Amino acid sequence: MPTILTVTMNPAVDLATTTERLVDAHKLRCSAPVVHPGGGGINVARVLHRLGADVQALYPAGGCSGQRLVQLLAAEGVPDAAITIDGDTRESFSVVDRSDGKEYRFVLPGPTLSAPEWERCLSTIGTMAPAPRWVVASGSLPPGVPDDFYARLAAMLRGPGTRLVLDTSGPPLAAALQAGVYLAKPSLRELRELTGAPLQDDAQRRDAARALVTSGQAQVVALSLGGEGAMLVTADQAFKAAALPVAVASTVGAGDSFLGALLWALDQGQDLRAAFGTAMAAGAAALLATGTALCKPEDIARLRTGVDVQELP
Ligand SMILES: Nc1ncnc2c1ncn2[C@@H]1O[C@H](COP(=O)(O)OP(=O)(O)OP(=O)(O)O)[C@@H](O)[C@H]1O
Ligand SMILES: [Mg+2]
Repeated sequence: MPTILTVTMNPAVDLATTTERLVDAHKLRCSAPVVHPGGGGINVARVLHRLGADVQALYPAGGCSGQRLVQLLAAEGVPDAAITIDGDTRESFSVVDRSDGKEYRFVLPGPTLSAPEWERCLSTIGTMAPAPRWVVASGSLPPGVPDDFYARLAAMLRGPGTRLVLDTSGPPLAAALQAGVYLAKPSLRELRELTGAPLQDDAQRRDAARALVTSGQAQVVALSLGGEGAMLVTADQAFKAAALPVAVASTVGAGDSFLGALLWALDQGQDLRAAFGTAMAAGAAALLATGTALCKPEDIARLRTGVDVQELP
């Protein structure tokens, strides 16, 4: 059994391409597609695997696209536990307009899962022996999966042994926080949506993150702030780091790279402050890679020395 299990309920085969200029009606001739396995938890697993962690990716997969997904993960050497479903795994499509460099991301809803299918995902996680030290649940939920899926996962994993790490948004995030998780990684957009507050400055952001901790919803909140960097907040500590100044090729997968590296560092025994610094380097490293390519370990190591973690009052 793996030390770290990632859970991706709505994975995708990600196709990335470019075209001269995005216009309507005309046929848009595109460059040869670059294909990657995708979805939040799958990306986190890919990052963890590159860093040498003992990780396994659990996800539902169906149809030809599901087989493709399994093959793509196998090609990267990421150990997986695919749960076969009737529906077809979704494909996502991103196009860079070469005339202005803008990236357009088309995301499909994903197949509808039946109750026995998503229940099988839960029971597979619940019966792993020994239980993984970490379960990382990341991404949206596909049609058919109830909004309280992650909350059920949290309730199932409660007790000693497994720490649940969650990166999702909207009602599934709110429900899971009510059940309580070890670590949540909202982006600023997601935390604003959750709290309904504008969260304009550091103090407001720190207080909103801390409120999740004091109310027992998460022990650690890693709040990512896009181009402004990130914060990490616990009951008695708050850290902030500015984003590293790197040339941005694509922001796709920055949050997943951040989270994968954070988990890797924590599992290595780094303290929260040091692990947060490693995560910042990984978030920046992801920006160097075009399309859905993720961070490279050598870039993380190189950028790590430039990260400045400040303690907030
Ligand atoms: N434009 C940017 N410039 C510099 N650093 C960035 C930029 N975008 C992201 N990062 C880095 O990557 C980390 C994660 O990015 P972000 O906050 O966008 O999370 P995300 O999960 O990818 O966002 P979302 O889920 O809302 O799309 C940030 O904390 C930051 O360190
Ligand atoms: Mg995110």
